[in-house]
Amino acid sequence: MKTIPKNHQLVETDDGSFTLYSKTYDENLHSTSGAEGETLQYFIKNSLIKDIKDNGIIFETGFGMGLSFKKLLNSDLNQALTFISTEIDEDLVSWFEKSEDLIFEKDENLRIAQIKNIKIIIILGDAKLMAPIFFKKNNLKVDRFFQDPFSPKKNPTLWDLEWFEFLSSIAEKNSILTTYSASHSVKKNLESTGWEVESMPGYGKKRSSTRAYYRGKI
Ligand SMILES: C[S@@+](CC[C@H](N)C(=O)[O-])C[C@H]1O[C@@H](n2cnc3c(N)ncnc32)[C@H](O)[C@@H]1O
Repeated sequence: MKTIPKNHQLVETDDGSFTLYSKTYDENLHSTSGAEGETLQYFIKNSLIKDIKDNGIIFETGFGMGLSFKKLLNSDLNQALTFISTEIDEDLVSWFEKSEDLIFEKDENLRIAQIKNIKIIIILGDAKLMAPIFFKKNNLKVDRFFQDPFSPKKNPTLWDLEWFEFLSSIAEKNSILTTYSASHSVKKNLESTGWEVESMPGYGKKRSSTRAYYRGKI
């Protein structure tokens, strides 16, 4: 981590790991209780990632600094996986590429690489617009969703009914979605688009979080 991406500041969190503060959104990318700790809890542990099938597909909303991806990579799973993420800020993706000493293959708005057992595809641009185009073209179904945009206040379009309808349309039956949010309206939107919702413990100062299973259209 040499330079910091434009419009961001490095912030140390309580577990000793680092996150970024986004000046654009006036929000940290992770909880100050622990960037690595919360990532492990919400997206590795709560998502039951170890049980994902071989050739499973993960879809993340908000690539950020790529921490969820790194934690997935370090989980040493044997399954071949495809990790598809979305990111509106290309600087973050270039920063990740440099700091990980990677070279992404570039295909229009896609950044692609194969790292060990995981193929990573980052869709650049507004997820709300670009992800539906990508999934329509590639006709893929997702096994795990890492729902990790900024808060509903800062990223309302990635928490609304239309977004969850889209996620349902690409969800494999019984796929699992996890998120740090425990908001009542987020749970309601999930429930009305075919998800069975359960409360999970929160990380650090946060009391609870959410895990949901896609049961199909009601
Ligand atoms: C909470 S951070 C994600 C942290 C990330 N999962 C990680 O492990 O580092 C949210 C990210 O969503 C991105 N974002 C915000 N609005 C977006 C949009 N409309 N489309 C795609 N990405 C968006 C932000 O730039 C930010 O990097």
